[in-house]
Amino acid sequence: MTVQVGILGATGAVGQRLVQLLAPHDDFELAALTASTASAGELYRDAAKWRVDAPIPDHVAEMTVTETDPDAVPDDVALLFSSLPSSVGADVEPAFCEAGYVLSSNSSNARMADDVPLVVPEVNAGHLDLLEVQRDERGWDGALVKNPNCSTITFVPTLAALADAGHDLERVHVATLQAVSGAGYDGVSSMEIIDNAVPHIGGEEEKLETESRKLLGEFDGVTVDEHDVGVSASCNRIPTIDGHLENVWVEAAEELTPADATDAMAAYPSLDLPSSPEPLIHVFDEPDRPQPRLDRTVGGGMAVAAGGFQESTFGLQYNCLAHNTIRGAAGASVLNGELLLSEGYL
Ligand SMILES: NC(=O)c1ccc[n+]([C@@H]2O[C@H](COP(=O)([O-])OP(=O)(O)OC[C@H]3O[C@@H](n4cnc5c(N)ncnc54)[C@H](OP(=O)(O)O)[C@@H]3O)[C@@H](O)[C@H]2O)c1
Repeated sequence: MTVQVGILGATGAVGQRLVQLLAPHDDFELAALTASTASAGELYRDAAKWRVDAPIPDHVAEMTVTETDPDAVPDDVALLFSSLPSSVGADVEPAFCEAGYVLSSNSSNARMADDVPLVVPEVNAGHLDLLEVQRDERGWDGALVKNPNCSTITFVPTLAALADAGHDLERVHVATLQAVSGAGYDGVSSMEIIDNAVPHIGGEEEKLETESRKLLGEFDGVTVDEHDVGVSASCNRIPTIDGHLENVWVEAAEELTPADATDAMAAYPSLDLPSSPEPLIHVFDEPDRPQPRLDRTVGGGMAVAAGGFQESTFGLQYNCLAHNTIRGAAGASVLNGELLLSEGYL
């Protein structure tokens, strides 16, 4: 039995990736596509400026886009993937949850709310049970689950691997080199980014610093007790299309060598959900990898790549990379949908 699903914000950069991942999915059947009132009423092929490097799946091209309103989505749709701008998500996502829909959302609104699970399944699947608290407190029949920011997803699995191997993480510094697709199609003008790098992405540093501690925290059945590691982030936009590269420095309570780190990351387990990559963390021996153009599609774009391990004045140093619209957004959300299904929330 397949589950009927829909996409809120289906015409955008992340929405298009969701279409690409969901159209062939064995467990999910795409039955609803929503966007702004400007797109509502149009066929998807006319409403979406399709930018994915594969054709629009035929049956999706002929679907009609509706308004983003609970009344416009068929009742038999059980799960909605949300890729709305966060200001819009903050307004409409609670209305969908109240109307009984379960949402797996990319938007940044409510990620840090006490009763909203922020989940990367391989790292903290157990946090999903925070939904029981959410339903009690909000009286929703539906539910709201978030995946983290694309740049947070890139480095958190590597930290989780170190923590799981017994390393007591004290301080982390991360410097990002983020692709332009992370800002959406209209996000960064070509005059600003060609032959350039922009050392500021509004609000991004705070997301890495706070979301990482929530993801690495412990859920005690009522609340998530955030990890006490100190995280400092510095975010840069660079002229790559897809794939966020990050330089990471980790200070641990005891010695943490490059060999410890490569062993921990190579051994860190994946899951057996349909979209889980195997392995989750692809470890490179070459000092100049991972690179965005060469390595963003490891594991079908769902894996994290890591390499360049070395000792430094500020502890262990390494680089990591993930595809920002797949692992960092649409794929992360699909994986959370698969977790919701396997854990009986649909
Ligand atoms: N791009 C990434 O790598 C990435 C990574 C992680 C998270 N995210 C998050 O994912 C979300 C979507 O990002 P994106 O890059 O896909 O944005 P985008 O390309 O600008 O797409 C936005 C989508 O939302 C719809 N929309 C806009 N205003 C609306 C309104 N008032 N009511 C209903 N629908 C509305 C748009 O429909 P129309 O086509 O009709 O305007 C479009 O489908 C954001 O919250 C972003 O922060 C993005």
